[in-house]
Amino acid sequence: MKKRTIIVDKIKRGHYLYFFYYYLYTLCMDRHIAGTYKYNRSLNKLIYNNERGASPVQSASYRVLDVLLPELEIGDGDIFVDVGSGWGRLLGYLFIKGKKCRKYYGIELNSEAADLSKKILRNYDQVKIINGDATKVIINDATVYFLFSPFDRNIMELWIKHIENTHSYVKVYYLHAIHEEAFANKSKWRIIKRKVLRPKYHIPVTLCVYEYGNR
Ligand SMILES: C[S@@+](CC[C@H](N)C(=O)[O-])C[C@H]1O[C@@H](n2cnc3c(N)ncnc32)[C@H](O)[C@@H]1O
Repeated sequence: MKKRTIIVDKIKRGHYLYFFYYYLYTLCMDRHIAGTYKYNRSLNKLIYNNERGASPVQSASYRVLDVLLPELEIGDGDIFVDVGSGWGRLLGYLFIKGKKCRKYYGIELNSEAADLSKKILRNYDQVKIINGDATKVIINDATVYFLFSPFDRNIMELWIKHIENTHSYVKVYYLHAIHEEAFANKSKWRIIKRKVLRPKYHIPVTLCVYEYGNR
């Protein structure tokens, strides 16, 4: 088959157009969140952590966030915590998309990411970034926690214990739930939803939603 025909064929399938659309969408959204070119570039930066069990600092892709958004049942009565908030993309995204909560926290272990996201989100009301370890930071009034695969199984067990010791009720959204078994067989935790999200041209991503304790 002629080269030109192959290219036309692929464009017809929408593959390249889709990726080009998300390339532009990512630039615009990051620019909207971060405001300046300097910060804008940083939302895509990948850095590794030295702490054992900690995932790298890496923003969630908008292709994933766009399929996640309808699943998030949060509102102005909620105090939302992004566990491992990275560069702050998720928190900024929720603002832009109008998912308004009473207050937002980001807990970020990596001090470079925490410091920069504090600057990036400085104009967002009700957002507070805390540089610390989510297995130790206490946010007493939190009602919803969001985790995008921030740590390994051992740290997940520590985090679950920490939540049990500091809250009587919370809802947890666990995206890319590779350690979902950590929540199994725990009498006070209930799974209320398990859904495999399928962003286009992307690996499937499991979302688990849990409730802990009683309201
Ligand atoms: C995949 S990134 C999540 C990015 C962000 N939630 C977003 O959607 O843009 C995971 C983050 O968890 C952070 N992290 C890892 N262990 C942590 C811990 N114990 N406490 C707080 N943050 C942690 C990492 O530094 C990294 O930034």
